[in-house]
Amino acid sequence: MESLLQQFTRETGIRVRDLPVPETTLDQLDLSRRLLRQAAAGPDALAVDVIWAGVLQPDLVDLQREVADEFPLLGPQLLRSYQADGKLAAVPYTVQVGVLQYRRDLLREYGYQRPPRTWDELEKMAARIQAGERAKGHKDFWGYVWQGAAAEALTCNAIEWQAAAGGGRIIESNRTISVNNPAAIRSWERAKHWIGWISPPSVLAYQELDSLNVFDKGGAAFGRIWGGASITHIALFRQMHWRNSLAQSITGYTTIPGGLTGGAGTLGGSGLAVSEHSSHRKEAIELVRFLIRAQIHSNQVDERAVVDRAGSHGADSASEAGRTSEAVIRTKLVVRPSTETGTQYEHVARAYFDAVHSVLTGEKSASIAAAALEKELVRITGLPVGPPLKGD
Ligand code: GLC
Repeated sequence: MESLLQQFTRETGIRVRDLPVPETTLDQLDLSRRLLRQAAAGPDALAVDVIWAGVLQPDLVDLQREVADEFPLLGPQLLRSYQADGKLAAVPYTVQVGVLQYRRDLLREYGYQRPPRTWDELEKMAARIQAGERAKGHKDFWGYVWQGAAAEALTCNAIEWQAAAGGGRIIESNRTISVNNPAAIRSWERAKHWIGWISPPSVLAYQELDSLNVFDKGGAAFGRIWGGASITHIALFRQMHWRNSLAQSITGYTTIPGGLTGGAGTLGGSGLAVSEHSSHRKEAIELVRFLIRAQIHSNQVDERAVVDRAGSHGADSASEAGRTSEAVIRTKLVVRPSTETGTQYEHVARAYFDAVHSVLTGEKSASIAAAALEKELVRITGLPVGPPLKGD
């Protein structure tokens, strides 16, 4: 980012000061909201998590004509996630998708030819590898690490569990609340069962960096992580090379396991927005255009590099996903119900991750938590209750 901003200043003469942001998305939302309310004293341009477009929209400029129209390569599904109240509140900039990382060396050692496709398979592999590693003296080795703290990262994990089980996406595209259903309840119960068995009890306090640290120091066989996709091809992901602590050659990436209908990865990422109160609107829009152009270019270069590498090895292709850490993998997406709930998504998400967390800690049974959550979501949104939609 720093060198990009320097290049922008060289090309345009516009100087940019980059402000630091907190680690978690809810803290980032609080800060953005506070700063935007300072009107002209706040930021001119900012990055906005894909789920907050509806919440921050009143303070943001409509970028459809000013920016998006210039980039026809941006996918309509991605643009829709940033639309709120008929306005394009941000232009997609980074795209993340939930994926499963695994230890290729350990899978091979324990006789597995391929990574797990279902949660049943993951449980079997994780339990067996964990027992084997512990028997070798690696006492604190765990099968599977993920993000179980009462935070938005848990929303992303849990919506993947339930969507793949046919349990819907909390609130469906027809704006009905679907969360209190047997498939969602069973999927939460399954995750609770992992804790203390294949996942450490501390997973209840993990966010992304915590599980990453355990996996990277060789402490787990599987981990849920964000994969990077490109803003022009969101259904494909590859791991971004922003860390290399565990040798690339022993880490594999594949789609999140699923049930009968296959797994799905949560759509994450962020878009670039311009403050409605900025006194440098023209310059801020110029910066957004510059960054999007650079991102599209670097995505295209990345994609070419993957294709070239696949060609030279002969074997890697999307159909052999998971065979190498460089493979480009096609995944199904699950989208959090932020466009359906707009300004209320923040309250919906807090109610959801608190409910799931109370199940994971054993404070509430899954069926009681789901029934109470359903009531709470009706109260927050005023929407009706309905079944999960097929193909949502
Ligand atoms: C990542 C994703 C974002 C998500 C967050 C949850 O930053 O890009 O969409 O809300 O993780 O922790």
